[in-house]
Amino acid sequence: DETKSGVKGIIDSGIKTIPSFFIHPPETLSDLTPRSDFPQPKIPTIDLSAVHHSRAAVVEQLRSAASTVGFFQVINHGVAPELMRSVIGAMKKFHEQPAEERKKVYRREMGIGVSYISNVHLFASKAASWRDTLQIRMGPVPTEEKEIPEVCRKEVMEWDKEVVCVGDILLGLLSEGLGLGEERFTELGLSQGRVMVGNYYPFCPQPNLTVGLNSHADPGALTVLLQDHIGGLQVRTQHGWIDVKPLDGALVINIGDLLQIISNEEYKSADHRVLANPSNEPRVSIAVFLNPGNREKLFGPLPELTSAEKPSLYRDFMLKEFMTKFFKKELDGKLLTNFFR
Ligand code: SIN
Ligand code: FE2
Repeated sequence: DETKSGVKGIIDSGIKTIPSFFIHPPETLSDLTPRSDFPQPKIPTIDLSAVHHSRAAVVEQLRSAASTVGFFQVINHGVAPELMRSVIGAMKKFHEQPAEERKKVYRREMGIGVSYISNVHLFASKAASWRDTLQIRMGPVPTEEKEIPEVCRKEVMEWDKEVVCVGDILLGLLSEGLGLGEERFTELGLSQGRVMVGNYYPFCPQPNLTVGLNSHADPGALTVLLQDHIGGLQVRTQHGWIDVKPLDGALVINIGDLLQIISNEEYKSADHRVLANPSNEPRVSIAVFLNPGNREKLFGPLPELTSAEKPSLYRDFMLKEFMTKFFKKELDGKLLTNFFR
């Protein structure tokens, strides 16, 4: 019953050391690099408002970021700052309600309706992570509004709408970046299957022994992430793990495995993780995973992006096969994409 009130419930019980099932194996722990205050390479920040007067330049910035680190932040994206604040606030409220309220939506299954989950093994992890999540299916068949917890209902609905707007704009520009028409990616329905995940990372008394979220790549097409000011998100680059430093007003965007495949690896999906939160203030983030709506349509590298010089790097498959593999991924650190080569 304890897991039903989340990691939040564990920390609220007053413990000073973390339960052993949160302790990660040495190979994970030895690789943890603390958040750094020293200058590090930065992931690109792209000003989307420039699209009105210098579209080609913005397309090139997006192409460059997507084909190298696979992670970038966008600013001046048109989403109201008030909504960004209020959706973070509403999600925080959900996670800070009395345990009884949270337990009402506790579920082991994911991907349908609403589920409050904790200690997830989701990303091929050998141990639990120091984080609670509220997951809400937003498309292609949205969760009924009345199923969404009332404390965050209005904000979740509005947030989903805004994310689809920004997501489709980005997919259009990223499509252009590969010399395809603006509509090529959106025509594939890449933003129709959506899952919103509101993460809550409570204070962790032993942040060197666990993680907030284990290293993983996102399986879908594109992820739109809103993070608060606490920090802890890191991305694996050729320079090692670097911080995705919170930038007020920005959205963090990353390429998922499916877009890597569809683009025949012109675009790269990057591994990322979240360190356990050493701060007394909880960290809140909201990720929206953009996926195709049709799970039975065949996906593979687009014919326009394959040639004699660059043959198709992947076979065609249905999203349902892909996602089944993702959720069953063996615990040996294999890349999901490798199953489809
Ligand atoms: C995620 O990778 O799904 C979430 C990352 C975060 O909480 O910043
Ligand atoms: Fe992720």
